[in-house]
Amino acid sequence: MKPILITGGAGFIGTNLAARLLSSGQSVVLYDNVSRCGVEKNLHWLRAHFQDALTILTADTRDREAFGHAVCDASAVFHFAAQVAVTTSLSSPELDFDVNVRGTLHLLETLRAMRNPPPLVFTSTNKVYGSLPGVELGLHGRRYEPVDPGIRAGGVGEEQGLEFYSPYGCSKGSADQYILDYARSFGIPAVVFRMSCIYGPHQHGNEDQGWLAHFLLRALRKEPITIYGDGRQVRDILFIDDLVEALLIAKENASRLSGAAFNMGGGPQNSISLLELIDLIAKMHGELPPLEFADWRIGDQRYYVSDCSKFQKATGWAPTVCAPEGLQRLYDWLKESLPS
Ligand SMILES: NC(=O)c1ccc[n+]([C@@H]2O[C@H](COP(=O)([O-])OP(=O)(O)OC[C@H]3O[C@@H](n4cnc5c(N)ncnc54)[C@H](O)[C@@H]3O)[C@@H](O)[C@H]2O)c1
Repeated sequence: MKPILITGGAGFIGTNLAARLLSSGQSVVLYDNVSRCGVEKNLHWLRAHFQDALTILTADTRDREAFGHAVCDASAVFHFAAQVAVTTSLSSPELDFDVNVRGTLHLLETLRAMRNPPPLVFTSTNKVYGSLPGVELGLHGRRYEPVDPGIRAGGVGEEQGLEFYSPYGCSKGSADQYILDYARSFGIPAVVFRMSCIYGPHQHGNEDQGWLAHFLLRALRKEPITIYGDGRQVRDILFIDDLVEALLIAKENASRLSGAAFNMGGGPQNSISLLELIDLIAKMHGELPPLEFADWRIGDQRYYVSDCSKFQKATGWAPTVCAPEGLQRLYDWLKESLPS
């Protein structure tokens, strides 16, 4: 049985997917340059739990030859390796481009040269929809809400026009479009998820990416949380186990779903504003974490909530872990993993 390749496999999503696959007896190759701070702990954990069927390649997606070799041996590819932070993309746009666009093109070119390319699942981002021009917002208590009742109830669907915002939005959006086009032009079986905020164990969140884990960690360490903007910005959040299930379904159905992009998140029922999250943390943690406020950051959407009905209708998938339960599980994991 050929292994499944997970690029960025040492990262948060990659580690959780790898654990699920390895537990079911599937062999897995992780391809990761270990550039993300904290992910070496994930590798340590994976090695301790799964030895035999796990191969770890410490390598870079910008290394076309090494990447090509890894892809040729795979029965499926999950492409997660990326420069993941909007902030880093603003300070280092060329690095962001090289990793997110060129790295993805290396993958696609290898797949194009194969007689029977394996299925590819790619994790794009809601940032491809930019500031959601045309979605009028109002203030409701501690959150922004769309004025349109349809969007308020259902979220943002794939018919929303693309508006790449920030170099990260441009690079992830380019990769998203290249993948859809390689499916269309060259018949590569590929599915794209445009994801909102994913959270759960093995997430080494920081101020630049992984805000839910970052906020919880700050509270646990009794350090101040900086809120950029007024804290009323809203996101939908999806617990990692639900995402892993969706990723596996996408892989299994890649030939049927190929060439499609799907919005992926917790949906309106799992939406939360930053201030609402702070209230929830205060309940879990027993005290309000210290807060600081700063200016809005470039590219920060005031509202983004996914409408996942296209994927739900196509596959029957639906999120099963509600936000308070998932956040409690992340909180407990972070608490356990803090050095005593
Ligand atoms: N976590 C989320 O909420 C979220 C939301 C939208 C999209 N995404 C996308 O999902 C993917 C995975 O996200 P994550 O949260 O697991 O991030 P992560 O930072 O935990 O994982 C990314 C991994 O890629 C590796 N990497 C970075 N550059 C590389 C390179 N050039 N070559 C090889 N490896 C490299 C890092 O070391 C890291 O282990 C990313 O593509 C990200 O853009 C994540």
